[in-house]
Amino acid sequence: MTSYNELGEVYEWLISDAKLSPVEFAASFDDALGLLPSDAHVLDCSCGTGQLSVGLAIRGMEVAATDASEVMVRRTQELAQEFGTLVRTLRAAWEELPDHFDDGTFDAIFCVGNSLHHADGASGRLGALQSMARLLRRGGRLVLTSRAWELVRARGSRLDIADRLVRRNGVDAVVIYRWEIAPHWEDEHHIEIAIAQLDGDGAVRVRSELLSCWPYRNDELAAELRLVGLRTEVNTFSLGAENYTVVASKV
Ligand SMILES: C[S@@+](CC[C@H](N)C(=O)[O-])C[C@H]1O[C@@H](n2cnc3c(N)ncnc32)[C@H](O)[C@@H]1O
Repeated sequence: MTSYNELGEVYEWLISDAKLSPVEFAASFDDALGLLPSDAHVLDCSCGTGQLSVGLAIRGMEVAATDASEVMVRRTQELAQEFGTLVRTLRAAWEELPDHFDDGTFDAIFCVGNSLHHADGASGRLGALQSMARLLRRGGRLVLTSRAWELVRARGSRLDIADRLVRRNGVDAVVIYRWEIAPHWEDEHHIEIAIAQLDGDGAVRVRSELLSCWPYRNDELAAELRLVGLRTEVNTFSLGAENYTVVASKV
């Protein structure tokens, strides 16, 4: 079960320092953003706590931010208010997006930060990519970032306990990832994430969630993008690298 409603409340302990600032998060996509008009109409379709959406709005773009999690959508609204930016927020899973937006609405769609693996298997992933492709105008671009599951699966099931505390809002926390790697690529995998916050009075408060994911190989993703009518322009995948970025345009 993947809801992010528990993790959403403490998600900043999972975000790297570089992604905490909306301006810096958006700047990490400068190459793709340079191809867009400054008032581009963009969708962040797994917006999380909203740092990218707000960063894009600060640049003057017309931003819609969607997510399957109520908590994430609320947090994105709150961040947009904090920065005095206008972001249209909506709770919608990827397959529901065509119910809310016309085909060809967006110049660019972002699906970033290890989100797509939450789509339910190959058919769920294809459905999600189909929704995104429909909503792009011809020539519009999908910008997707992904974990390299080739590397994750090669490491097998394991426990990752961070060797340093993460401090957010004056509170320190230990972050733990438990990776449950299934025998076959197509099986449901799990990542259990726990954030153990150390309160000032010495108490430990743990928030955790068991997330489902369905891994995919980089070449499978490339084939699925072709199937939904997107032509890959950039694919930074390389063996041994933890993450990669794909930019694909609507043919
Ligand atoms: C790892 S977080 C990434 C959030 C954000 N993009 C970032 O980079 O910080 C994955 C996000 O995907 C969302 N998500 C999971 N399944 C989804 C679905 N079927 N449709 C839309 N969003 C989904 C989660 O709620 C969560 O906010």
